[in-house]
Amino acid sequence: MKKVIVLGSTGSIGTSALDIIRSNRDDFQLTGLSANSRETELLAQAAEFSVSSLALTGKETSDSRITYHGPEGLLDLIKETDADIVVNGISGAVGLAPSVTALESGMDLALANKETMVMAGRLINSLAEKKGRRILPVDSEHSAIFHLMEGKNPDDIYEYIITASGGPFRGYTSEQLKNVTAEQAMKHPTWDMGYKISIDSASMANKGLEVIECWRLFNIPLDKIKVLVHPQSMVHSLIRTNDLAMYAHISHPDMRLPIQNALYYPDLKPVPSSFLDLAGREMTFFEPDMDNFPMLPLAYRAAESAGAYPIVYNAVNEVAVQALVDEKIGFTEIPEITEQLLSGDWTAEPQSFDEVLAVDTLCRQEAVELIKKRM
Ligand SMILES: NC(=O)c1ccc[n+]([C@@H]2O[C@H](COP(=O)([O-])OP(=O)(O)OC[C@H]3O[C@@H](n4cnc5c(N)ncnc54)[C@H](OP(=O)(O)O)[C@@H]3O)[C@@H](O)[C@H]2O)c1
Repeated sequence: MKKVIVLGSTGSIGTSALDIIRSNRDDFQLTGLSANSRETELLAQAAEFSVSSLALTGKETSDSRITYHGPEGLLDLIKETDADIVVNGISGAVGLAPSVTALESGMDLALANKETMVMAGRLINSLAEKKGRRILPVDSEHSAIFHLMEGKNPDDIYEYIITASGGPFRGYTSEQLKNVTAEQAMKHPTWDMGYKISIDSASMANKGLEVIECWRLFNIPLDKIKVLVHPQSMVHSLIRTNDLAMYAHISHPDMRLPIQNALYYPDLKPVPSSFLDLAGREMTFFEPDMDNFPMLPLAYRAAESAGAYPIVYNAVNEVAVQALVDEKIGFTEIPEITEQLLSGDWTAEPQSFDEVLAVDTLCRQEAVELIKKRM
């Protein structure tokens, strides 16, 4: 029986992970859970799965069943709870420290928190190697590529193609995008996800983050990573081998598939909701619109520039998305502010996780100042 900690258990990834554990109680034992503010939901999950290691990071509680408090408490929970694998379903840069602690504590990492690889991919890979632990991608595109690559020599792969749904504003011009609201941006056409990743999908920043994640996770040349818009979200990614044939990973869009594959790795078990009958289905593919959705080319620019630029890309985008939700800026200001901060000198590559977090903090402060000046 595999012991599992689910971080961000009240979110979209977290509840999907719990669904899998609920359906496979003979194979998994849930030993720890964390949430930020949804205390009632966390306690209900703890009761259902008889979990006693609980962390709440974002608000005070007097409930004695919750024994770990605040961001430090979350790290203590990981250190002090017995587990083989941690599902990291926390959203945002705050997910980095728990990923580091999980690997340091000798646990495998089922990684949905893409910010971990974007901010500190190189350091995380070497920590996993040093500890002899696995990073199992949960992001659907990366899980697809991970499985497509298995048994293949990376030298035989010509290119990696990440698919994107195009989000709710596919086909919009920059003029039309000026008037869209955060609420509209949160309505993803094919995936049911948390608000941050939904807004990122609308701006294509999510695909930008995924390009950087792919580059770091698989340690492959950036120019071999392509993006193709595929509105039906059935093909999750493709690889093209040197003979120029393509291999695709196809299923219904349901995050339970990549989460389950990570939890059972290397076994593949049926995920009934993923069964897709291709007969009568239409699949279309388009080049991404790099002009009207500049967050994608900006991600390539951040990765090409290396150093601390990917950390900056992520941090400023997080701040800008929150500002959009708070109605302080408009949708098209997200790339404008991102570009402005990326124009600074961030060439020094952080050599430790502390240095990564220092850049993240500094960049957030600068982004907040820039937004204030625009208001
Ligand atoms: N959703 C998807 O389909 C999907 C697909 C691929 C990758 N991902 C990635 O997976 C991660 C999670 O996405 P999501 O859509 O599941 O997000 P979500 O629905 O917003 O859930 C986020 C989870 O993290 C917790 N959390 C929020 N802020 C936190 C903080 N400061 N400290 C600790 N915990 C915090 C939340 O707790 P509360 O509920 O208490 O607020 C919640 O449990 C993101 O990195 C995203 O890019 C998601």
